[in-house]
Amino acid sequence: MIEPITVPKAELHCHIEGAAPPTLVRSLAEQHGVDVSGVLDGNGKYIWSDFTTFLKAYDVASSVFKTPADYSLLSEAYFRMLAAEGAIYGEIFVSPDHAQAAGLSYRSYVEGLASGIERAKLDTAIEGRMIAIGVRHFGSASVERVVKEVIGNPHPMVTGFGLAGDERSGHPANFAKAFRMASEAGLGTTAHAGEFGGPDSVIAALEFLRVKRLGHGVRAIEDKELVKRLADEDIVLEVCPGSNISLGVYTHMRFHPVNMLRREGVKVTLNSDDPPFFGTTLGKEYASVSETFGWKAEDQIEITRTAIEAAFCDKATKTRLLVRLDSALQNPGTS
Ligand code: ADE
Ligand code: ZN
Repeated sequence: MIEPITVPKAELHCHIEGAAPPTLVRSLAEQHGVDVSGVLDGNGKYIWSDFTTFLKAYDVASSVFKTPADYSLLSEAYFRMLAAEGAIYGEIFVSPDHAQAAGLSYRSYVEGLASGIERAKLDTAIEGRMIAIGVRHFGSASVERVVKEVIGNPHPMVTGFGLAGDERSGHPANFAKAFRMASEAGLGTTAHAGEFGGPDSVIAALEFLRVKRLGHGVRAIEDKELVKRLADEDIVLEVCPGSNISLGVYTHMRFHPVNMLRREGVKVTLNSDDPPFFGTTLGKEYASVSETFGWKAEDQIEITRTAIEAAFCDKATKTRLLVRLDSALQNPGTS
């Protein structure tokens, strides 16, 4: 039997700006003269009360990252922390719109993040990739601008394109062109759907964006036919249980559909979304889901395997990661 901490982990869904440690945000805010008193309390906790105020707090916290070096510090800190929890792979959502609002070009933003990921890898062997996101509530023109920027400035670590932001605004049809461009350019694609929207939102994302991965997707559980479709079409869900509970999508882990979806044959992965905002980490997600639903080490390993198989990285990297996962299985305690 393998102890949970030794189970190698992989993450597909974490917003790098939403992973910013409050201490780092405060120190950069002081350095750059940004007022963050409205979003960080005296105990170093983010202040927000619902999805709308969360998105606003996230925007303010993002605004303290002004240079490539700031972003490099952030990605290095995040990937080191992931590795310390036993992760061997992480994909982060990066938001060119937030970088631009802070005065950074797309290229310098991505290069800053990439150098932090590389530094963390040198020390810990963790592998990382970036998924550039368009923000849904900024509208289709803004999302198309992001995809053009990504395609026009290729970077080996930016391997995916996604849609985040407020699912309650804008129909997926508005973003079909951006997703078609991303797919034609060879980027992996994923979209947030089925977090605040119900089954119709998930169906529309599948139809119009042609994604094989969904951010959250959990509210598909409200439609039996849709659950069957997800299973039949091998759609992978980037499930973020702690985020869903913090944002009030579900009241308690035992009411979260992750276990039911998995039992119905849907491919699920576990993710932290915006960890310090929701008081979580990838390790806590593996631990709390496992404790609630009685998942053993074998179940957790299957979750990691699903994530690696669905990762937006090249075949050789996937093979290496799967070898690491299998060798941890054979030699528990050495991963
Ligand atoms: N951006 C950052 N976190 C998000 C979430 N949970 N849903 C949609 N957009 C986001
Ligand atoms: Zn998300």
